[in-house]
Amino acid sequence: MSNTARLDRLLANMGYGSRNEIHELVRREMVVLDGAPLDDASARIKLAADLPARMTIGGEPLDPLQGLALMLHKPLGVTCSHKESGPLIYSLLPARWRRREPAISTIGRLDKETSGLILLTDDGALLHRIISPKHHVTKHYVATLARPLRGDEAGIFAAGTLMLEGEDKPLAPAVMEALGPTSARVTVTEGRYHQVRRMFAAVGNHVDALHRDRIGTLALPADLNPGEFRALTAADITAVFS
Ligand code: URA
Repeated sequence: MSNTARLDRLLANMGYGSRNEIHELVRREMVVLDGAPLDDASARIKLAADLPARMTIGGEPLDPLQGLALMLHKPLGVTCSHKESGPLIYSLLPARWRRREPAISTIGRLDKETSGLILLTDDGALLHRIISPKHHVTKHYVATLARPLRGDEAGIFAAGTLMLEGEDKPLAPAVMEALGPTSARVTVTEGRYHQVRRMFAAVGNHVDALHRDRIGTLALPADLNPGEFRALTAADITAVFS
């Protein structure tokens, strides 16, 4: 981000409206900095880190600037996509945020029928750091199975030789711990399509329900209900990589 930006472009890119609409907000004295209405929508303003604490739009604090990073409790039934049909995860965010530029995207995906912890950001560098295989970020799932575990699954998943149907490279070793006859905790470092469901299919089982409760050591907070989100702190981001 450069150190200054034109006010109309900044607010338009943050989803507050078209540039014409921003000019109108300024004309109506709805854009206030340090307690005083701004009178020139074309003026450049300093992109200081404390701008959201000093600027209000229609009386509401300015949204976080570029570098937004969120955790969200994904409910069942929403899709991690900008363009598929049906309910999309982005509809859980404020409408204005869906117009932000650069766009907010999920970091990796959860299936429509998987619930739990998902991260979102408009920061491409952060996204790539988390999904890069180099960083071995662990993803932790609880799977509810249609049939009882056989007993050999943990060894098969840990071997690093399991080949999923239609793929030509074996899965990296994964950890499985039985939680009961038909439930298991699974920890993977990759993010292949439908990975956990296909791992259990490869050992003759079927995943009835799947929930992600942790990424690295960052746990889904107990008080974050399905559909709710909150900003990631610097400590949360560190936890993702530990
Ligand atoms: N593995 C799956 O099968 N689905 C998910 O959503 C995540 C991991």
